[in-house]
Amino acid sequence: MNQNKTVKKIDFDKILNTVRVFAPATVANMICGFDILGFAVDYPGDEVVMYRVATPGVRIRSITGDDGRLPVDADKNTVSACVQMVLEYLGISKEIGVEIELIKHMPIGSGLGSSSASTVGGLFAINSLLGNPLTKEELLPFCVEGERLACGHGHADNVAPALMGGITLIRGQHPLDVIKLPVPEELYAGIVFPKVDVPTRDARQLIKEKVFLRDAVTQWGNIAGLIAGLYERDYALISRSMHDVLIEPTRAILIPEFYTMKQIALDAGALSFGISGSGPSVVAISRGEETAKNAANLIQKHLTDCEIDSFKYVSPVNINGPKIL
Ligand code: HSE
Repeated sequence: MNQNKTVKKIDFDKILNTVRVFAPATVANMICGFDILGFAVDYPGDEVVMYRVATPGVRIRSITGDDGRLPVDADKNTVSACVQMVLEYLGISKEIGVEIELIKHMPIGSGLGSSSASTVGGLFAINSLLGNPLTKEELLPFCVEGERLACGHGHADNVAPALMGGITLIRGQHPLDVIKLPVPEELYAGIVFPKVDVPTRDARQLIKEKVFLRDAVTQWGNIAGLIAGLYERDYALISRSMHDVLIEPTRAILIPEFYTMKQIALDAGALSFGISGSGPSVVAISRGEETAKNAANLIQKHLTDCEIDSFKYVSPVNINGPKIL
């Protein structure tokens, strides 16, 4: 990890015995900003409980809610591997022992930043346990490394909003340059997860490496329009900017009923509709909770009529990121 070592000294007497953390799910891309925009939601999210133990090392005590899909081997599990990295970075990996309970409250491979929420929860927990030797900015590169371990690519558009809260812009990847954007108060997400598995790794492989200049021009116009709309709290500008001409046409084929769901959301008055992260969750970004709820309900009803199981979540944008429970 290429960082300057300006970390606080750890006071071993002040290390906590246990800490329980909630870390939020995220809607990466925010429709038009592939790999650079994302926002956190109040729910769902994951919980991490971390215990200080006498024997040095990092171990997974238990994982629940994952249907047995995540590795409990501490070297292979993303959360424990990232916690280990932080302990090594702080130079205390031989002195500290921690055990981790991971409680998943959201489906894996859903496009809701499931691995990011767990990683951010784990890193926020170890930092809290140790008395916050690192700032959030200093923790972020470790979170990105977790994303790389989880899906083979270190994009930051899930981990940044999960850690920082709110809406974040990844202005640059190397070095990381993350900007928190204003959050218009009435912005709500009506999220529906059709129960089909779309691993981020696969969804990324589908995307074309090259794009047409005219499409790039449309896309960066939309991204700039969205950012201006957020600063101006101009919902009409936000609405007409949230269109994705680069990624959605390719990924939509992985999501059952995508274009019908889109029509339903827009007819229900959503500002925009699109894929959450790499899918298959979809999101009706709306002005006000009622519209978001209504859009999500109608989408879910349609999926039920098509005999496709789904979950739905309606949430405002989460402002603060992880929290101690
Ligand atoms: N920006 C990433 C993607 C998010 O769309 O592949 C993955 O959750």
